[in-house]
Amino acid sequence: TALAQIDTALGPQLNIGHRGASAYAPEHTFYAYDLAMEMDVDMLECDLFLTKDEVLICIHDSTVDRTSDGSGRVQDFTLDELRALDFGSWFGIKFSSAKIVPFEEQLDCYLDHNPLMRFHVETKDSAQGRAEAVLVEVLARKGLLDTGDIQTSTIVMQSFDASSLKRIKQLSELPTAFLFARRTSFELLQWVASGNGPDYIDAFAPNSAAIFNDPTSVQRFHANGHDVHTWTVNERTQMDYLLALGVDAIFTNNPDILRAAIDDK
Ligand code: G3P
Ligand code: CA
Repeated sequence: TALAQIDTALGPQLNIGHRGASAYAPEHTFYAYDLAMEMDVDMLECDLFLTKDEVLICIHDSTVDRTSDGSGRVQDFTLDELRALDFGSWFGIKFSSAKIVPFEEQLDCYLDHNPLMRFHVETKDSAQGRAEAVLVEVLARKGLLDTGDIQTSTIVMQSFDASSLKRIKQLSELPTAFLFARRTSFELLQWVASGNGPDYIDAFAPNSAAIFNDPTSVQRFHANGHDVHTWTVNERTQMDYLLALGVDAIFTNNPDILRAAIDDK
């Protein structure tokens, strides 16, 4: 069975706080990131958009409607305008002081706290084509462009858009993870095995359903030299199963549950 083929992770299995500890505090706020740190994550996940004045900020949606008291597209706000919004009350009134987090402030805050903290960074507005260039400028300024391979690098880039990862690799040597949900692992494995698979992808990042549908894909991705980072897994039984299959990293809204699962393995 698939479970008989255990322990194929290529290195330590990583606990990635998805939008912070977003089960317990409003996503992409310092409340959620602080909690994730307290829960001993290895990486913080961050979704990035550019503001009107070309500042990278941490937010998942292309609009502010769901997670703030404002309304409209992120790209139509300046950073100062976003700073005036409340990004916490939607989750609970005690979080009403939560503000937008610029990506640089996230990096500064948590690297200052723990120089070994790592960041799994998703370019969300790659269609605009500027996010990658701004990102590389920011990381270059901070000396974070050349910090190791995918198992050690402070920054790992992720995207559903392969062309975004390609742009990143043209601009830097940052490690990359290709997110996918609808495509099956099997199709992607065939793509890689055909020799036509791209050389700008270091890890595959399937949603967990893709692995449940095709559990042996983990070993086959490994055999092709790719790590496997899966998302978004919040239940202990699913975590235990995926860790036993040998995934290299799990994104979770509940980093406390995943920490216990990794420690108990
Ligand atoms: O980045 C992993 C996972 O977050 C991908 O889906 O929509 O939550 O960004 P989404
Ligand atoms: Ca994401």
